[in-house]
Amino acid sequence: MDKKVSVIGAGNVGASTALRLAELGICDVALIDSVGGLAAGKALDLSEAAPIQRYDARIAGSSEYEMTEKSDVVVVTAGFPRKPGMSRDDLLASNAEVVGTAVRQAVRFSPDCILIIVSNPMDAMCHVAMKESGFPRNRVIGMAGILDAARFRTFIAQELGVSMENCEAMVLGAHGDAMVPVPRYSTVAGIPVTELISSERLDAIVERVRSGGAEVVGLLKTGGAYYAPSAAIVEMVEAILKDKKKILPCSAYLEGEYEMKGVFVGVPVKLGKSGIEEIVQIGLLEPESEKLRQSAAAVRKLLEKLKGLS
Ligand code: 2OP
Repeated sequence: MDKKVSVIGAGNVGASTALRLAELGICDVALIDSVGGLAAGKALDLSEAAPIQRYDARIAGSSEYEMTEKSDVVVVTAGFPRKPGMSRDDLLASNAEVVGTAVRQAVRFSPDCILIIVSNPMDAMCHVAMKESGFPRNRVIGMAGILDAARFRTFIAQELGVSMENCEAMVLGAHGDAMVPVPRYSTVAGIPVTELISSERLDAIVERVRSGGAEVVGLLKTGGAYYAPSAAIVEMVEAILKDKKKILPCSAYLEGEYEMKGVFVGVPVKLGKSGIEEIVQIGLLEPESEKLRQSAAAVRKLLEKLKGLS
């Protein structure tokens, strides 16, 4: 294939992402992990599924970053997952180290790539990635809004007994307890959910979205979600590689949009071949804007903590 995507981290999220990318059939895949033969073994296994699944993507795995050379997109999933009872923020110190190292190595071999950051606490890790890469903001993108919105869409569909395909949802803000699901911009076949679901039930659904990651962690006990996160990652990769100009909620570095500067936070962006091609500014009611500001403040608090650690 003439496009190449490298996935850093061959754990559940990374390996599921590699599988979905291979099945999508739009790029070759390099899977990297510092743990011995993990990436190579999973890549070999994925390759051996190709004749049955009928994909021609070349999939290779290694612990060496040379294999990522000339990637169009680098997805960073490396880092420690949460354990039950942990918040994403608890991973700050350990994952800042892992993400920083991964990004430094990846951009050495792919200085023109677009970075998609997944490791948690994701918004803060985007700051680490921007600092370590020196990339402009259009080429550092955080994955979470699509995942959080997918959970919102799922719960709406289940609540109403309708097709998942009918449900669209908007989630802004940080990927954490301060995220901002926006029912006003969430629809079923174009009908605002506020006209279809009572405010009490909507509040309950919003709370479940907010704790969606923790709900899966609590059930799995041994780590976090990976099927939905990997699907969200691949929607971003596809929008970039196919230059779809697709509007999706992603963590972006604001420089005045939404009256905020110097912080990564989830907002609607237009994704295309250059990465973030536009930050879409939607009208927000004051309570929604206030929640978005509080969400950005939660990211800034993590950055202060990070500064204190260095
Ligand atoms: C989640 O929400 C892993 O943070 C990710 O499941």
